[in-house]
Amino acid sequence: MGNLQGRDLLSLADLQPSEIQELLTLAKQLKAGEVQFDFQRKTLGLLFRKASTRTRVSFTVAMHQLGGHVIDLDPNVTQVSRGEPIEDTARVLDRYLDVLAIRTFEQAELETFAKFSKIPIINALSDLEHPCQVLADLLTVMENFGSLKGLTLTYLGDGNNMAHSLMIGCALVGMNVRIASPKNFMPDPTIVAQAKALAENSEVIVTEDPKLASRAAHVLYTDVWASMGQESEAEDRIPIFQPYQLNAELMALADQQAIALHCLPAHRGEEITDEVMEGSQSRIWDEAENRLHAQKALLASVL
Ligand code: CP
Ligand code: NVA
Repeated sequence: MGNLQGRDLLSLADLQPSEIQELLTLAKQLKAGEVQFDFQRKTLGLLFRKASTRTRVSFTVAMHQLGGHVIDLDPNVTQVSRGEPIEDTARVLDRYLDVLAIRTFEQAELETFAKFSKIPIINALSDLEHPCQVLADLLTVMENFGSLKGLTLTYLGDGNNMAHSLMIGCALVGMNVRIASPKNFMPDPTIVAQAKALAENSEVIVTEDPKLASRAAHVLYTDVWASMGQESEAEDRIPIFQPYQLNAELMALADQQAIALHCLPAHRGEEITDEVMEGSQSRIWDEAENRLHAQKALLASVL
Protein backbone atom coordinates (compact mmCIF):
# COMPACT_ATOMS: atom_id res chain seq x y z
CA MET A 1 0.00 0.00 0.00
CA GLY A 2 3.06 2.22 -0.39
CA ASN A 3 1.43 4.36 -3.06
CA LEU A 4 -0.92 6.05 -0.59
CA GLN A 5 1.75 6.70 2.01
CA GLY A 6 1.87 10.35 3.04
CA ARG A 7 -1.09 11.29 0.85
CA ASP A 8 -4.11 13.45 1.75
CA LEU A 9 -7.72 12.37 1.27
CA LEU A 10 -9.67 15.61 0.85
CA SER A 11 -11.96 14.31 -1.89
CA LEU A 12 -12.67 10.77 -3.06
CA ALA A 13 -11.37 12.00 -6.42
CA ASP A 14 -7.89 12.11 -4.83
CA LEU A 15 -7.88 8.32 -5.26
CA GLN A 16 -7.30 6.36 -8.47
CA PRO A 17 -9.77 3.51 -9.19
CA SER A 18 -7.03 0.94 -8.44
CA GLU A 19 -6.30 2.65 -5.10
CA ILE A 20 -9.95 2.40 -4.06
CA GLN A 21 -9.94 -1.29 -4.96
CA GLU A 22 -6.74 -1.80 -2.92
CA LEU A 23 -8.26 0.00 0.07
CA LEU A 24 -11.40 -2.13 -0.11
CA THR A 25 -9.37 -5.32 -0.38
CA LEU A 26 -7.27 -4.33 2.63
CA ALA A 27 -10.42 -3.37 4.59
CA LYS A 28 -11.88 -6.81 3.86
CA GLN A 29 -8.67 -8.49 5.04
CA LEU A 30 -8.58 -6.37 8.20
CA LYS A 31 -12.23 -7.20 8.90
CA ALA A 32 -11.46 -10.91 8.50
CA GLY A 33 -8.45 -10.59 10.83
CA GLU A 34 -6.11 -11.72 8.05
CA VAL A 35 -3.62 -8.85 8.40
CA GLN A 36 -2.25 -6.83 11.28
CA PHE A 37 -0.27 -3.63 11.61
CA ASP A 38 1.76 -2.14 14.38
CA PHE A 39 1.76 1.66 14.39
CA GLN A 40 3.15 2.10 17.89
CA ARG A 41 4.09 5.72 18.58
CA LYS A 42 2.01 7.01 15.63
CA THR A 43 -0.56 9.63 16.56
CA LEU A 44 -3.81 10.58 14.84
CA GLY A 45 -5.35 13.98 15.63
CA LEU A 46 -9.10 14.51 15.38
CA LEU A 47 -10.13 18.12 14.76
CA PHE A 48 -13.93 18.18 14.53
CA ARG A 49 -15.95 21.40 14.20
CA LYS A 50 -19.22 19.44 13.92
CA ALA A 51 -20.81 16.69 15.99
CA SER A 52 -19.95 13.06 15.24
CA THR A 53 -20.61 9.63 16.69
CA ARG A 54 -19.53 7.13 14.02
CA THR A 55 -16.59 8.98 12.50
CA ARG A 56 -15.13 9.98 15.84
CA VAL A 57 -15.47 6.56 17.44
CA SER A 58 -14.51 4.50 14.39
CA PHE A 59 -11.34 6.55 13.78
CA THR A 60 -10.42 6.28 17.46
CA VAL A 61 -10.99 2.53 17.64
CA ALA A 62 -9.28 1.99 14.27
CA MET A 63 -6.12 3.81 15.42
CA HIS A 64 -6.19 1.98 18.75
CA GLN A 65 -6.48 -1.41 16.99
CA LEU A 66 -3.57 -0.44 14.73
CA GLY A 67 -1.45 0.09 17.83
CA GLY A 68 -1.40 3.89 17.59
CA HIS A 69 -2.69 6.77 19.64
CA VAL A 70 -5.42 9.42 19.17
CA ILE A 71 -5.67 13.03 20.38
CA ASP A 72 -9.01 14.83 20.38
CA LEU A 73 -8.26 18.39 19.23
CA ASP A 74 -11.61 19.82 20.30
CA PRO A 75 -11.67 23.35 18.76
CA ASN A 76 -13.12 24.73 22.00
CA VAL A 77 -10.26 23.42 24.10
CA THR A 78 -7.46 24.21 21.65
CA GLN A 79 -6.76 27.70 20.26
CA VAL A 80 -8.61 26.81 17.05
CA SER A 81 -11.93 28.36 18.07
CA ARG A 82 -10.12 31.50 19.28
CA GLY A 83 -9.08 32.35 15.77
CA GLU A 84 -5.48 31.15 15.49
CA PRO A 85 -4.86 31.11 11.72
CA ILE A 86 -5.22 27.70 10.07
CA GLU A 87 -1.86 28.26 8.36
CA ASP A 88 -0.20 28.46 11.81
CA THR A 89 -2.19 25.64 13.42
CA ALA A 90 -1.43 23.36 10.48
CA ARG A 91 2.33 23.95 10.66
CA VAL A 92 2.40 23.32 14.41
CA LEU A 93 0.25 20.17 14.38
CA ASP A 94 2.43 18.88 11.56
CA ARG A 95 5.38 18.80 13.98
CA TYR A 96 3.53 16.62 16.54
CA LEU A 97 1.10 14.38 14.68
CA ASP A 98 1.48 11.66 12.06
CA VAL A 99 -2.00 12.03 10.52
CA LEU A 100 -4.88 14.47 11.03
CA ALA A 101 -8.60 13.90 10.37
CA ILE A 102 -10.72 17.05 10.13
CA ARG A 103 -14.49 17.57 10.14
CA THR A 104 -15.46 21.06 9.13
CA PHE A 105 -17.70 23.25 6.97
CA GLU A 106 -15.53 24.68 4.19
CA GLN A 107 -13.57 22.40 1.86
CA ALA A 108 -11.12 25.33 1.56
CA GLU A 109 -10.14 24.88 5.22
CA LEU A 110 -9.09 21.30 4.50
CA GLU A 111 -7.09 22.49 1.52
CA THR A 112 -5.30 25.07 3.66
CA PHE A 113 -4.43 22.41 6.24
CA ALA A 114 -3.09 20.20 3.45
CA LYS A 115 -1.06 23.04 1.97
CA PHE A 116 0.59 23.99 5.25
CA SER A 117 1.33 20.53 6.64
CA LYS A 118 3.24 17.57 5.29
CA ILE A 119 1.33 14.88 7.22
CA PRO A 120 -1.71 13.23 5.59
CA ILE A 121 -4.92 15.26 6.03
CA ILE A 122 -8.14 13.24 5.93
CA ASN A 123 -11.55 14.77 5.22
CA ALA A 124 -13.78 13.41 8.00
CA LEU A 125 -16.73 15.33 6.42
CA SER A 126 -17.04 18.79 4.94
CA ASP A 127 -20.02 20.57 3.40
CA LEU A 128 -18.75 19.35 0.03
CA GLU A 129 -17.78 15.72 0.62
CA HIS A 130 -17.72 12.73 2.98
CA PRO A 131 -15.16 10.40 1.38
CA CYS A 132 -14.57 8.10 4.39
CA GLN A 133 -18.27 7.27 4.54
CA VAL A 134 -18.30 6.25 0.89
CA LEU A 135 -15.30 3.91 1.35
CA ALA A 136 -17.41 2.09 3.97
CA ASP A 137 -20.46 2.19 1.69
CA LEU A 138 -18.56 0.63 -1.21
CA LEU A 139 -17.20 -2.05 1.13
CA THR A 140 -20.77 -2.83 2.20
CA VAL A 141 -21.99 -3.05 -1.40
CA MET A 142 -19.04 -5.29 -2.32
CA GLU A 143 -19.76 -7.63 0.62
CA ASN A 144 -23.35 -7.99 -0.57
CA PHE A 145 -22.90 -8.37 -4.30
CA GLY A 146 -19.34 -9.77 -4.53
CA SER A 147 -18.24 -7.01 -6.90
CA LEU A 148 -19.09 -3.39 -7.78
CA LYS A 149 -18.79 -2.86 -11.53
CA GLY A 150 -22.10 -2.51 -13.36
CA LEU A 151 -24.27 -2.22 -10.23
CA THR A 152 -26.60 0.78 -9.87
CA LEU A 153 -26.77 2.96 -6.76
CA THR A 154 -29.64 5.42 -6.36
CA TYR A 155 -29.34 8.26 -3.88
CA LEU A 156 -32.59 9.91 -2.82
CA GLY A 157 -32.76 13.36 -1.23
CA ASP A 158 -30.56 16.39 -0.74
CA GLY A 159 -27.76 16.96 -3.27
CA ASN A 160 -25.31 17.28 -0.37
CA ASN A 161 -21.87 16.03 0.69
CA MET A 162 -23.08 12.41 0.62
CA ALA A 163 -24.53 12.78 -2.89
CA HIS A 164 -21.23 14.28 -4.05
CA SER A 165 -18.93 11.60 -2.63
CA LEU A 166 -21.26 8.81 -3.78
CA MET A 167 -21.23 10.20 -7.32
CA ILE A 168 -17.45 10.36 -7.42
CA GLY A 169 -17.00 6.99 -5.67
CA CYS A 170 -19.43 5.13 -7.92
CA ALA A 171 -17.92 6.71 -11.04
CA LEU A 172 -14.43 5.59 -9.95
CA VAL A 173 -15.44 1.95 -9.35
CA GLY A 174 -17.60 1.59 -12.47
CA MET A 175 -21.00 1.67 -10.76
CA ASN A 176 -23.96 3.53 -12.25
CA VAL A 177 -25.15 6.31 -9.99
CA ARG A 178 -28.50 8.09 -10.02
CA ILE A 179 -29.19 11.12 -7.86
CA ALA A 180 -32.87 12.01 -7.34
CA SER A 181 -33.29 15.43 -5.69
CA PRO A 182 -35.89 18.21 -5.61
CA LYS A 183 -35.33 21.00 -8.15
CA ASN A 184 -33.60 23.49 -5.86
CA PHE A 185 -31.58 20.86 -3.98
CA MET A 186 -29.60 19.30 -6.81
CA PRO A 187 -25.93 18.36 -6.35
CA ASP A 188 -23.21 20.87 -7.22
CA PRO A 189 -22.94 20.96 -11.06
CA THR A 190 -19.14 21.02 -10.82
CA ILE A 191 -19.17 17.69 -8.95
CA VAL A 192 -21.70 16.22 -11.41
CA ALA A 193 -19.39 17.18 -14.29
CA GLN A 194 -16.39 15.76 -12.43
CA ALA A 195 -18.19 12.44 -11.79
CA LYS A 196 -19.24 12.24 -15.45
CA ALA A 197 -15.66 12.82 -16.54
CA LEU A 198 -14.42 10.07 -14.16
CA ALA A 199 -17.07 7.52 -15.21
CA GLU A 200 -15.72 5.37 -18.00
CA ASN A 201 -18.36 2.78 -18.78
CA SER A 202 -20.99 3.74 -16.22
CA GLU A 203 -23.79 6.31 -16.01
CA VAL A 204 -24.14 9.40 -13.84
CA ILE A 205 -27.77 10.51 -13.86
CA VAL A 206 -29.33 13.44 -12.00
CA THR A 207 -33.11 13.63 -11.95
CA GLU A 208 -36.07 15.03 -10.02
CA ASP A 209 -37.93 11.71 -10.36
CA PRO A 210 -37.39 9.38 -7.35
CA LYS A 211 -39.46 6.55 -8.85
CA LEU A 212 -37.66 6.49 -12.16
CA ALA A 213 -34.34 6.65 -10.32
CA SER A 214 -35.23 3.73 -8.04
CA ARG A 215 -36.30 1.36 -10.80
CA ALA A 216 -34.13 -1.81 -10.86
CA ALA A 217 -31.44 -0.18 -8.69
CA HIS A 218 -29.23 -2.48 -6.56
CA VAL A 219 -28.71 0.04 -3.77
CA LEU A 220 -31.16 2.66 -2.49
CA TYR A 221 -29.36 5.23 -0.36
CA THR A 222 -30.55 8.24 1.57
CA ASP A 223 -29.34 10.87 4.05
CA VAL A 224 -30.90 13.58 6.20
CA TRP A 225 -32.85 16.31 4.40
CA ALA A 226 -31.09 19.07 6.39
CA SER A 227 -27.39 18.57 7.10
CA MET A 228 -25.38 19.88 10.02
CA GLY A 229 -25.41 23.67 9.76
CA GLN A 230 -28.82 23.71 7.99
CA GLU A 231 -30.96 23.02 11.07
CA SER A 232 -32.98 26.24 10.61
CA GLU A 233 -34.23 25.00 7.21
CA ALA A 234 -35.28 21.56 8.45
CA GLU A 235 -39.01 22.23 8.94
CA ASP A 236 -39.47 23.95 5.58
CA ARG A 237 -37.69 21.15 3.76
CA ILE A 238 -39.99 18.34 4.98
CA PRO A 239 -42.86 18.82 2.48
CA ILE A 240 -40.44 19.44 -0.41
CA PHE A 241 -38.51 16.22 0.24
CA GLN A 242 -41.48 13.96 1.12
CA PRO A 243 -41.62 12.27 -2.35
CA TYR A 244 -37.96 11.26 -1.89
CA GLN A 245 -38.54 9.29 1.33
CA LEU A 246 -36.86 5.85 1.23
CA ASN A 247 -39.92 3.70 1.93
CA ALA A 248 -41.40 0.31 1.00
CA GLU A 249 -42.94 1.76 -2.14
CA LEU A 250 -39.57 2.82 -3.58
CA MET A 251 -37.88 -0.39 -2.32
CA ALA A 252 -40.47 -2.36 -4.32
CA LEU A 253 -39.37 -0.60 -7.52
CA ALA A 254 -35.73 -1.53 -6.99
CA ASP A 255 -34.06 -4.84 -7.91
CA GLN A 256 -35.39 -7.80 -5.89
CA GLN A 257 -31.97 -8.23 -4.26
CA ALA A 258 -31.61 -4.50 -3.57
CA ILE A 259 -30.18 -3.26 -0.28
CA ALA A 260 -30.98 -0.06 1.64
CA LEU A 261 -28.19 2.13 3.00
CA HIS A 262 -28.09 5.30 5.13
CA CYS A 263 -24.91 6.94 6.42
CA LEU A 264 -26.67 7.81 9.73
CA PRO A 265 -27.72 9.57 11.86
CA ALA A 266 -31.27 9.10 10.53
CA HIS A 267 -34.50 10.99 11.07
CA ARG A 268 -36.87 8.02 11.05
CA GLY A 269 -40.18 8.88 9.44
CA GLU A 270 -38.57 11.65 7.38
CA GLU A 271 -35.98 10.53 4.82
CA ILE A 272 -36.40 6.83 5.71
CA THR A 273 -39.19 4.76 7.24
CA ASP A 274 -38.78 2.52 10.27
CA GLU A 275 -39.95 -0.33 8.07
CA VAL A 276 -37.03 0.07 5.64
CA MET A 277 -34.45 0.74 8.36
CA GLU A 278 -35.41 -2.41 10.26
CA GLY A 279 -36.38 -4.46 7.20
CA SER A 280 -34.61 -7.47 5.69
CA GLN A 281 -33.05 -5.39 2.89
CA SER A 282 -31.37 -2.94 5.28
CA ARG A 283 -27.58 -3.22 5.54
CA ILE A 284 -27.33 -0.01 7.58
CA TRP A 285 -25.67 -1.54 10.66
CA ASP A 286 -23.08 -3.39 8.57
CA GLU A 287 -22.47 -0.10 6.80
CA ALA A 288 -21.85 1.66 10.12
CA GLU A 289 -19.50 -1.15 11.23
CA ASN A 290 -17.60 -0.89 7.97
CA ARG A 291 -16.55 2.67 8.82
CA LEU A 292 -14.10 1.03 11.24
CA HIS A 293 -12.62 -1.40 8.73
CA ALA A 294 -12.45 1.06 5.83
CA GLN A 295 -10.77 3.77 7.93
CA LYS A 296 -8.36 1.26 9.42
CA ALA A 297 -7.32 0.40 5.86
CA LEU A 298 -7.02 4.09 5.03
CA LEU A 299 -4.89 4.89 8.11
CA ALA A 300 -2.65 1.89 7.52
CA SER A 301 -2.16 3.02 3.92
CA VAL A 302 -1.34 6.67 4.51
CA LEU A 303 0.89 6.06 7.54
N1 CP B 1 -22.11 8.90 9.14
C1 CP B 1 -21.38 9.72 9.95
O1 CP B 1 -20.42 10.36 9.52
O2 CP B 1 -21.81 9.74 11.24
P1 CP B 1 -21.29 10.72 12.40
O3 CP B 1 -21.77 12.11 12.01
O4 CP B 1 -21.93 10.21 13.64
O5 CP B 1 -19.81 10.68 12.43
N1 NVA C 1 -25.21 15.19 5.15
C1 NVA C 1 -25.02 14.93 6.56
C2 NVA C 1 -24.16 13.72 6.74
C3 NVA C 1 -23.92 13.32 8.17
C4 NVA C 1 -23.03 12.12 8.31
C5 NVA C 1 -24.41 16.15 7.23
O1 NVA C 1 -23.50 16.75 6.65
O2 NVA C 1 -24.86 16.53 8.30
